Formats: sequence, structure tokens, C-alpha cells
Amino acid sequence: MWTEIPSAVPTEETPALRSQRARAEVRAAIRAVDSTLRQSGLPPRCMGFTLEMFPDRANPALRQIADYLEDWDGTRGLILTGGYGVGKTGLLAAALRALVTDHPSLWAAPLHFALAADLLDLLRQGYEAGDAAQRLARVRNAHLLALDDLGAEKPTEWVQERLLMIVNHRYERLLPTWITTNYGLNGLAERIGERTIWRLAETCAVIEITGRNLRIRDAP
Ligand SMILES: Nc1ncnc2c1ncn2[C@@H]1O[C@H](COP(=O)(O)OP(=O)(O)OP(=O)(O)O)[C@@H](O)[C@H]1O
Ligand SMILES: [Mg+2]
Repeated sequence: MWTEIPSAVPTEETPALRSQRARAEVRAAIRAVDSTLRQSGLPPRCMGFTLEMFPDRANPALRQIADYLEDWDGTRGLILTGGYGVGKTGLLAAALRALVTDHPSLWAAPLHFALAADLLDLLRQGYEAGDAAQRLARVRNAHLLALDDLGAEKPTEWVQERLLMIVNHRYERLLPTWITTNYGLNGLAERIGERTIWRLAETCAVIEITGRNLRIRDAP
């Protein structure tokens, strides 16, 4: 007995279906980027920041950061240095969003964003809780580690040793580290130690953020 074989000819995708599918893909990408950034520990204040939203539109750092992102090879780090309130943390967060958006390979990757002092505190607690090794491994092996306000923590010997362990591990494995700091490289060397800072300087683009304190409205 003959049975009717249904036609296997694919139906043409209509323009409406195509744009519906494109919109769904954009929504999925936004969700993936947001989730990656949330998982990284990016603070809620900075979650929505983009480079386009940066209040000081004429700041030359915007171009330098865009160039850095365009040339990114998966290994090069970034140091944003400058005075109080010039926008270092906001620019780092915005750059991270741009980077993750442009690199689907980073979606759901273990990225780690932390205030340097908080991260050291977390490690210290790890020694009391007995899981310091796991905590340290997470930080050392993050696909991208962003340390906000490096140098602000009290520079004890213990702090300098931990930072060197983290930075050297990442240096040897070509893992990118991003940093914001109020200090210049020489000032930072005194705070975190010469060995650590020169490993960072070798592997990072250093961008100095100039400008006014953006936290003070209409400041001269
Ligand atoms: N990308 C951005 N989009 C919108 N607003 C931003 C952005 N970056 C920074 N800002 C705003 O600029 C002000 C200062 O930013 P930020 O906290 O980044 O400064 P900072 O240089 O890190 O300061 P500090 O040295 O005190 O840590 C804040 O009010 C912040 O909301
Ligand atoms: Mg900051």
C-alpha cells in the first residue's frame, strides 16, 4: 500500500519571521552578557554602565579604551589610573561590558570583579573557614580578573605576598588582569611591591584617566 510522503521542501523564512528570530537572538545575547557580568561580581551600581554613557564625553581615555578593546588578544591586561572620582571604576565596568558583548567566548566564563581590599578580606576569611585554597584558585584562574582600587588596602607583608601569588600565577599563564588605582606605577610599587607591579606593567596597557571629579556636580 502506498503512503503519502510529506513534502520535505523547507518553507521559506518570511521577513517577519527573520526579524523575529533576530530580535530573539539579540535578547538572548543581552541576557548572556548581563548574567556573565552579574556572576563576575560587578556591583549593581555599575551593571548598566556603558562607554557611551560616560558623562565626560570629551575624555581622551574613551578613545584609548576603545582602541585597547579593539586590539584585545585575550591576554593583555589593563590598568586605569587617576584621581578620585574621575570615572575609573565606571570605565572599567563599561569596558568589561563592551568586551563581554563582543566576545561570546566569554559568555558564562568565570570572570571575577572585586574591590582589591574585599578580595583580600575574602581570602583571609578563607584561611579561617578552611577553604582558602579554593578561594585562591577561583581568583587566580579567573578568565579575567578585575581588581578595583588596588593599593587602597593596607600594604602588609601578608597582603603583598597574596597579591604576588595571584599576579604571578596569572602572569605565567597569560591570563588578563584589569586594575583601577589612584596610584601611579611608582606609587603602586611602594604599596603592593615591586615584583607585582612590574609584572602587571609588562602585561597591561596603562591608561591615565584625567578630568574632574565626576561625583561633584558642576565642579570646575
Ligand atoms: N560609564 C559610566 N556611565 C555612567 N556614569 C558613569 C560611568 N563611569 C562613571 N560614571 C559616574 O562618574 C562618577 C565617578 O565614577 P567612578 O566611581 O567610576 O570614579 P572613580 O574614579 O572610580 O572614583 P574613586 O577614585 O573614588 O574610586 C560616578 O558618579 C559614576 O556614576
Ligand atoms: Mg573607583
